[in-house]
Amino acid sequence: MTQRQMILGMQLGNGYGSQGAAWRAPGVDVSNYTSFDAQVRYARAAERGKFAFLFLPDFLGQLGAGLDHEAPMLTLEPLLTLAAIARETERIGLVATGSTTFNEPFNLARSFKALDVMSHGRAGWNAVTTSDAASAANFGRQIAPRPERYQRAHETVQVVQALWGSWGRDAWLKDAEGARFADPAQIQPVNLQGEHVASRGPLAIPPSEQGQPVIFSAGGGAYGLEMAGRYASAVIGAVFTIDDARAQREAIRESARLAGRDPDEVKFFAGVMPAIASTTREALDRRVALGEHTFPARVAYLGSMLGLRLDVGQIDEPLTADQLDAARPSPGDPRSPRALEVAREGWTIRDVLAHGVIDYHPTPVGPAAVTADHMQEWFEAGACDGFWVSIDVYEDGIDTFVDQVVPLLQERGLYHHDYEGPTLRDHLGAPHQYGTDPRLT
Ligand SMILES: Cc1cc2nc3c(=O)[nH]c(=O)nc-3n(C[C@H](O)[C@H](O)[C@H](O)COP(=O)(O)O)c2cc1C
Repeated sequence: MTQRQMILGMQLGNGYGSQGAAWRAPGVDVSNYTSFDAQVRYARAAERGKFAFLFLPDFLGQLGAGLDHEAPMLTLEPLLTLAAIARETERIGLVATGSTTFNEPFNLARSFKALDVMSHGRAGWNAVTTSDAASAANFGRQIAPRPERYQRAHETVQVVQALWGSWGRDAWLKDAEGARFADPAQIQPVNLQGEHVASRGPLAIPPSEQGQPVIFSAGGGAYGLEMAGRYASAVIGAVFTIDDARAQREAIRESARLAGRDPDEVKFFAGVMPAIASTTREALDRRVALGEHTFPARVAYLGSMLGLRLDVGQIDEPLTADQLDAARPSPGDPRSPRALEVAREGWTIRDVLAHGVIDYHPTPVGPAAVTADHMQEWFEAGACDGFWVSIDVYEDGIDTFVDQVVPLLQERGLYHHDYEGPTLRDHLGAPHQYGTDPRLT
């Protein structure tokens, strides 16, 4: 029996990296926010590491506080970015986030299927409901209650998939001699009318090499779980412990079972945000430099995670014995136990923060083997089917991951040496689907 292997995706945002100060890091061109060449370079580096997909988060009201010293975290526009990347890569999957609330199904169906055709079957759609007021404000609207947003989301995914299937698989005849371009009998309207969205169809786009795009999901809670169980081939998670990840993965698998699907059809991805250098000290220094302007403002929050009042004046000192005695991890933040664990190792507060204890994902710190060990431990514990990797500074960080972590995972038999096939469905082991899933009626 062959060993189960992990699948990797890579987060791709602005032209700099997943750390807010990446735009100022050594060797980074500050103009990369608008550079599609830079995005292509990062995508090709990830493809060299046989990453299954690029994952582009998206929010529709991203400009918030901090713009005076931090770059916006997202690409200028995810689908256009992936279109540029599609033309310069051959294998890597291309997953963009698209809102089910602030798009019409016909627009989503058309754009994503065009990307799927353009990339020869590598597109994925991360269907999100959008829950932030700043996004809604850009449409002159307000965020509707969750049940309403999710009902619209269900309708939208179903209409989109129906539109994808509306150009029949074999409808495109390409018969020049017989002067028959396509068979209209196989290209039929969908005539779907929901409570929130509707479409007549058909969509004028033939199937791609994988049929149609793959659905991703990144939601939480009962509503998000139901979406994932019904439609998703991959779920992007935000989890901080093996136990939590295992529970979330199991909940998603159960939700798929309830929807009448095989749970193995849904892959769960845990996040990881590695800090890699030849020594632990160098890896911490990389993060200390990136946190120069943000760490002082985070000291008070770190204190609240530990049940302490911490003063920024202590930032270059470790916690005292009395502070460590009094410290209690806050139940309000799942990252707190790890923060306390690191603090107990005697690091200064600045170094505790450099361990990524307030970052979005677990941060293994040190030589590449530390990251490989972390990934192996989580994977073998059944916490995930793979990882979405957030690289601190793309310019050098992707190559470091590909050159140092990937070979270790391969040597350990945990990661493939090459792509299994040409399409994103192949990379994910997702079954073929064209149109809506007949099991979900
Ligand atoms: C790992 C992860 C990534 C997410 N990425 C996005 C994103 O790119 N865009 C977005 O609008 N929401 C994103 N979300 C938010 C969820 O889709 C969802 O809207 C959020 O959990 C709020 O849930 P609600 O819609 O049930 O209120 C993400 C959530 C998680 C856990």
